[in-house]
Order: sequence, then structure tokens, then C-alpha cells
Amino acid sequence: MTAPRLDVFPAADWPERVAAELADRLRERPTARLCLPTGDTPAPVYAALADAAARGAVDLARATVVLLDEYLGLEPSDPARCDARLRRELLDRLPAAPAFHAIAVDDGDPVAAAAAHDAVAAAGLDLTLLGLGANGHVGFNEPGSGPDAATRVVALAETSRELAHVRYGAARTPTGGITLGIARLLASAEIWLLVTGAGKAAVLARTLEGPEGDDCPASFLRRHSRLRVLADEAAATALSGAR
Ligand code: F6R
Repeated sequence: MTAPRLDVFPAADWPERVAAELADRLRERPTARLCLPTGDTPAPVYAALADAAARGAVDLARATVVLLDEYLGLEPSDPARCDARLRRELLDRLPAAPAFHAIAVDDGDPVAAAAAHDAVAAAGLDLTLLGLGANGHVGFNEPGSGPDAATRVVALAETSRELAHVRYGAARTPTGGITLGIARLLASAEIWLLVTGAGKAAVLARTLEGPEGDDCPASFLRRHSRLRVLADEAAATALSGAR
């Protein structure tokens, strides 16, 4: 296993540094197929990327964005919906929006929606961005998910349901979710794990330096030869360097 590349940036300019790296990738490959998460970690990166696009420093018009995951049981208009959030924080702020594949959770057949979304991702992902759950989840691959986990309908951990309601402002707690599975994430050409804040320090250390295991699904990302971790200084404080 190759040790992941770890980049630690000061919190003050972490969003701009990550956005600049992303802009470089998009300049190298303007037709990139990106898998994107939502949440508080990537939000400032999306703001910085949208600012860069407004300045003409990057162009996503020919890129394709595939949503990482989506809640079940929230109205289409709910501000905490992953599709709504990505549109609001990034896509709608771009001078020219990329093609966007949301997850068809409003069609009444979540199993079919998961299968259809998996087929979209299976067409190829050049770069997948991920946040890290405090419980070690990636996407909605909650603890108990293994490296072969498929794209599927999932039950959310209680903490994830509460987070949607209390922190992300969902009108109610979601009933479940649909997520790209860990196997599909590992098939992406490259993965960037974004981690910020002291509250994520322990789980980042567990992810990178603990044993691989389904109590921390993010630990399976270490199987990827092009895993890159972009952390701020606070999130990196518990790392011993023994990787
Ligand atoms: C969201 C997602 C989740 C989050 C994770 C971290 O699309 O897939 O796995 O990335 O819960 O959330 P934040 O960034 O809000 O701490």
C-alpha cells in the first residue's frame, strides 16, 4: 500500500489552497468527471472555487459533476438536501455550470435511483472529493460498511440524521440515504479526503494510522494508490507521522 499524500495547510487559507489545487486539475482536464460531497468541510472550498470561476481563473463548463450522496425523506426544496446545497454553494454560482448528476430520490423508487446513480458513476470518475464523518463515515458509508460496499440505499447513523436536522437545517431528520459505495469510490482515478477542524483530529488519525476496519470505513480509502488528504493544521494535530 502506498502511503497517502498528506497536505496540511493553515486554516486561514485552507479553502483557497484546496480550490487552487482543484482549479489546476480542471485546467489539466477541462472535461473532468468529479464526484462531489456536501457538508461544512467543502462549503468554503466551493465558495473559493466559485470566486475563482467568476474571475475567469477556472472554468467548469465542460466538466461533469456526480453527486456523492443524498438524503431520503426530505422535500426537494429542503435546504439541507445535498443536491440543493451543491447547487446553492457551487453550481448556481458558476458563470457556466457543468453537467450535474443528482440522485433521483423523488421518483419513489430509491433502489432504482441508487442503481441508476451507480451506472452514472461507473462511466468513470477522474477525481472524487470526500469529507470525513466524525464516526469515520465517507459519503453515507456508515460504520459497518466494508471495502466492497456497493452504491445503495442506507440507514443513516443517528448522529448523521441529527446532523442533517440540527446543523444543516433540514426541516426534519432524514429517513435514510443513498450513497456511492466504497467500492465505487475506490474505482475513482483519484480521491481527495478533505478534513478540517480539531473535532476531526482523532478520526483522521484513526483513518490514516489505525488498523483498517469497518468501524472506520474511511480507513479503506488507504487501499487507493492515489489517495490525497488535504487537512488544515487543527485536523492534523493527532497524526503521529507513523504511517
Ligand atoms: C456529505 C457526506 C458526508 C460528509 C461528512 C462530513 O455529502 O457525504 O460524509 O462529508 O459527514 O461532514 P462535514 O463536512 O459537514 O463535517
